[in-house]
Amino acid sequence: MNRSIDPSFDSAAATYDDEFTFSEIGKLQRERVYYWLDKLHFFKQPQTVFEVNCGTGYDAQFFTERGHSVIATDGSEQMVKVAQSRNSKLTVYQRNFNDISIDDNVRKSDVIFSNFGGLNCLSAAELATFVDDTALLQKKDDLLIAVIMPNHCFIADVYHLMKGKFKQVGRRNKKGSLEVDVNGEKIRTYYHSPNRLTGLLRDKYCIELKKPVAAFLPPSYLESFFKRNPQVLNGLYSLERIFGNLNFLSSLADHYILVAKRK
Ligand SMILES: C[S@@+](CC[C@H](N)C(=O)[O-])C[C@H]1O[C@@H](n2cnc3c(N)ncnc32)[C@H](O)[C@@H]1O
Repeated sequence: MNRSIDPSFDSAAATYDDEFTFSEIGKLQRERVYYWLDKLHFFKQPQTVFEVNCGTGYDAQFFTERGHSVIATDGSEQMVKVAQSRNSKLTVYQRNFNDISIDDNVRKSDVIFSNFGGLNCLSAAELATFVDDTALLQKKDDLLIAVIMPNHCFIADVYHLMKGKFKQVGRRNKKGSLEVDVNGEKIRTYYHSPNRLTGLLRDKYCIELKKPVAAFLPPSYLESFFKRNPQVLNGLYSLERIFGNLNFLSSLADHYILVAKRK
């Protein structure tokens, strides 16, 4: 299949910020990503960041405000438009993962950044190709930072068990992929365990950091329940801050962050 232009997220672009970026769960999850980046001193000195699947450009804007030079890209034309309208000074353009190898800007960057599950749109074989491409383009000590959904989500399973929705328990851990509803559009989603990703990276990269992002915080599709029960969300956020540094939870969380340094 030729996926050089990916329209699947186009219909989500207009409401993505309301439904995820500025949702209570989305804000807390992103805060955890920044927490881990900060632990790595990511904001201490200016970097050139090539962002893939930038979505509506929230991270590009945030990083730019902290002194980084950011090139933000996404496969969806409409996401690119929303990101550009966030700040006309941002460099944003359409770029599919499959075409990353033809982009000279990757070579000129110190960091490739992918937040919140963009890489879950790639099958295991496509993810392997993506990692091969980044390894060819990156220089020694360049970073590849990815925030990805693993194939288990403990807190979603607990929620579904409590609600008696037994069919939903363990739904991510299916062979192949799942069709996930994003604004009425069915998005094919592949879940990748930290082991799979570290296995793909091992030869060319050192793993600098692997941590859960939302081991206790729920997935954003449960926003309406947690909006009605803010005290439960606050409790889970406290658990996240206390226990969310345990590496083994990476494979059970809604997302995990993996930071790899080119050897
Ligand atoms: C869940 S959103 C994440 C957006 C953003 N990174 C954030 O932090 O909110 C996933 C993004 O991946 C993009 N995407 C999906 N498939 C892609 C592909 N093949 N190439 C590039 N981007 C893709 C979508 O257009 C969408 O903007």
